[in-house]
Amino acid sequence: MKTLIDKLKQNTVLSRQEYITLIDSRSPELSEYLFEQAREVRHRWYGNKVYVRGLIEFTNYCKNDCYYCGIRRSNRRAERYRLTEEEILSCCEQGYALGFRTFVLQGGEDPYFMPDRMTSLIRRIKQLYPDCALTLSVGEKSRDEYQAYFSAGADRYLLRHETADNEHYRRLHPAGMSPENRKRCLRRLKDIGFQTGCGFMVGSPYQTTANLADDLLFIRELQPEMVGIGPFIAHQDTPFHDQPNGTLELTLFLLGILRLTLPKVLLPATTALGTIHPQGRELGILAGANVVMPNLSPVSVRRKYLLYDNKICTGDEAAECRNCLAQRMKSIGYEIVTERGDYPKD
Ligand code: 5AD
Ligand code: FES
Repeated sequence: MKTLIDKLKQNTVLSRQEYITLIDSRSPELSEYLFEQAREVRHRWYGNKVYVRGLIEFTNYCKNDCYYCGIRRSNRRAERYRLTEEEILSCCEQGYALGFRTFVLQGGEDPYFMPDRMTSLIRRIKQLYPDCALTLSVGEKSRDEYQAYFSAGADRYLLRHETADNEHYRRLHPAGMSPENRKRCLRRLKDIGFQTGCGFMVGSPYQTTANLADDLLFIRELQPEMVGIGPFIAHQDTPFHDQPNGTLELTLFLLGILRLTLPKVLLPATTALGTIHPQGRELGILAGANVVMPNLSPVSVRRKYLLYDNKICTGDEAAECRNCLAQRMKSIGYEIVTERGDYPKD
């Protein structure tokens, strides 16, 4: 199996069946070999730098009803909130002082903000922090709306495809949501010029190894600048409350494969990975990830933005998370840097 890893590292494309074989033949030794190769590729482009993104969870209202997600429309127990523009700007101010040069505005699909309040917010943030990158993560929109956000100054956009398999997608989402539209949105975003991120949950209900292979093929074809993956974690108030969680082990393996498949990709060690294992994010970095995304949301709303159970950092101030992560990265020989951390041009 090491030959498949070597092939990937030499930038030879793997077939669907080869990806399946590689994923299914995992062992501790094979993983260690994969992570060594992934780290070598990562070091070529990024050395021991880890980029930080300040995550601002600005609304948990959502018109969608994804079966896995804790802020789905039907969850009557979610306490809804929206930050005001002033509150959002104060998160940025704090974040800037802590050395963040990328802000990520993430929210449910909340019609209240779209599109006018969103464009004016983007303009204000970019005017106040011209040296910072602004990333949006607010779901599926029309081409015009994406274009308006880009023209207002947004640099990057995260929209996980969740699963590349249409049938699997329909088992994770209600009838109103379509896998075709999700993929169309991703192509629009790339086309408009956003640094674009897709991604998926590892171990989501009904997921097969073939689904994961299809995710990797889809990602290779789309060539996104960013990929976000993390384990599925059940949320108690969703239809998937009794489904098993994704594993640390498989998530790390996929991070390694992603690093070799897209050498320059900006790849976070996610909060979900830190939630299923106390050293999840450190292990993610050692498997090939190069980004961490601490929370900048006000502590007063942290406990309300729960996509899954037992989310970490819901009681910690931004500064605490920043310092905690700096310490954690240092402990494994990596260093958090004060930079935008754009996708390298060449
Ligand atoms: N477990 C893990 N990740 C989740 N997400 C949503 N719900 C869950 C969950 N229960 C992920 C989805 C979404 C991103 C913002 O969070 O992939 O795109
Ligand atoms: Fe939030 Fe460690 S990153 S407390």
